[in-house]
Amino acid sequence: MADVHDQIRDFWDKDAETYDRSPSHAASDPVEAAAWRAAIRRALPDPPARVLDVGAGTGAMALLAAELGYRVTALDVSEGMLAQARSKAEKRGLDIEFVVGSSTSPPPGPFDAVMERHVLWTTPKPAEALSAWRASAPGGRLVLFEGIWGRHDLVQRAKDVAIDAFQRLYRIPHDHHADYDPDVLAQLPLARLPSAEPLIRVVYDGGWQGVRIQRLYDVEWTRRLQSPLGLGWLESIPQFALAADA
Ligand SMILES: C[S@@+](CC[C@H](N)C(=O)[O-])C[C@H]1O[C@@H](n2cnc3c(N)ncnc32)[C@H](O)[C@@H]1O
Repeated sequence: MADVHDQIRDFWDKDAETYDRSPSHAASDPVEAAAWRAAIRRALPDPPARVLDVGAGTGAMALLAAELGYRVTALDVSEGMLAQARSKAEKRGLDIEFVVGSSTSPPPGPFDAVMERHVLWTTPKPAEALSAWRASAPGGRLVLFEGIWGRHDLVQRAKDVAIDAFQRLYRIPHDHHADYDPDVLAQLPLARLPSAEPLIRVVYDGGWQGVRIQRLYDVEWTRRLQSPLGLGWLESIPQFALAADA
């Protein structure tokens, strides 16, 4: 059986074709993009700081940061995902450095900040990755954009049934080409978290200090605005920015 890292890379290489059809993945809605710009600007040091975007994927955050004047390096293990990001950067005339590689061996930098969106959940050894990011940003800042996807109480289960019905009614395609293999998920300590607490603990384990957290109400709001009646409310999960110092 393939190594978990290879399975994860292969998943995202396949997902690259369809990832951006979800507006929240691509931050393609102009109102949501504006909310993300505000979140990035609040969380990162001032431009033109040097920023490493880990697991940059199709580049949603890297592109917005580059537009804001940051000097961005976009790192991802999937060539397919980064190819999409590269093509969008060329179309928008943005100068971003692209690096294909693993989150546990980031480029040396030095960076003023390391950021990620929705990547730590799919990292088998998150403390090891966080410690490697700290080494490439001495004296720098960590910024994680994350959400709470792992609540499985009765209300959430009822919402999931309703979401499924809505998606069939409005013929909304699935967010990804497939689901993660349960054997892969079992090796990911931060997958489907019911709270931000394990994430905070692992950030400290990775050697970062002074963790603070801020909910991204404006991003959640702009997502609700773009969804068909009711679906935005059903799908809405708490989104937050977590920051820490090296
Ligand atoms: C959910 S996507 C998020 C993409 C992007 N950050 C965004 O906000 O749209 C997860 C990304 O993490 C990347 N990834 C997963 N494991 C990785 C690793 N070990 N090293 C680097 N990138 C990784 C995947 O290839 C994928 O592009």
